[in-house]
Amino acid sequence: LNIVILAGGISHERDVSLRSGRRAADALAGLGHRVTILDADAALLPTLASLKPDVIWPVLHGAIGEDGALLSLLGTTGIPTVGPLGPAAALAWSKPTAKELVARAGMATPRSVSLSRETFRDLGANNVLSSVIHSLGTPLVVKPANGGSAQGVSIVTQAEDLPRAMVDAYTYSDVALIEQQITGTELGVTVINTGEGPVALPAVEIVPRDGVYSFEARYNAGETLFYAPARVESSLADHAAEVAVAIHDLLGLRQLSRVDLIVDAEGTVWFLEVNTLPGLTETSLVPQAIVAAGENLGQVYDSIVRAAQ
Ligand code: DAL
Ligand code: MG
Repeated sequence: LNIVILAGGISHERDVSLRSGRRAADALAGLGHRVTILDADAALLPTLASLKPDVIWPVLHGAIGEDGALLSLLGTTGIPTVGPLGPAAALAWSKPTAKELVARAGMATPRSVSLSRETFRDLGANNVLSSVIHSLGTPLVVKPANGGSAQGVSIVTQAEDLPRAMVDAYTYSDVALIEQQITGTELGVTVINTGEGPVALPAVEIVPRDGVYSFEARYNAGETLFYAPARVESSLADHAAEVAVAIHDLLGLRQLSRVDLIVDAEGTVWFLEVNTLPGLTETSLVPQAIVAAGENLGQVYDSIVRAAQ
């Protein structure tokens, strides 16, 4: 097949996207496909028109890609594209929206509040601090409402650290999501649909060496221990897989997603977020899940690309 992989873009995750794109391209080229990596820049549409690929795989983490903007534009080319359609991506890209939809469907997600930069400014840091701490307590996880790879994410154990954590989140997004921190086992569950319905791959358990799955812990080999499959009871692993597939379906996702969950000591599976164009780098979870399933990376990517056609 003549495949275009889009990688790079102008989001905060540009470098991660370039790494993901190169690795996916290598795996597909190894099967004999003609793979071209393109950046998502102003020359994109004319270049696609001349290359006439059979399929496009936008491996564009973060804004432009995962927010759905470029995906909607690609929809106008008529070229089959791997991943969600623009509107589904946009819903999942907003962590508060995705959490709300998941909660309404009866699944657990940590209690949270979302506050825009304007509200934070108008109410003042001290009022925000007292009302958020009053309703959620500590510890908290503060994150940009949109974003990936843990950029702008802080754990707040002392109330007085909340305003600074919010300012960090506003570096990446106009809205900060403040969530109760759930203690438990952190899992990334890859969901794949190559035409016979969505299937969960073995959950990957994440154990960062210093306890926090930060940007550094994600992309520097050895900073995080991964267990694939996760070291949880099989009934719990099955339950996490069901939750992940249900969320993939609920949010209208297609060939590939990764649902990030925490399982607590009572066995409750909590939804954190879903990644609609998940990382495919050497340290990312999707390739580890594929290997844990006993499958070959290139073959699985080949099935994903064919399913999009
Ligand atoms: N947002 C990063 C790339 C991930 O989902 O792995
Ligand atoms: Mg993410």
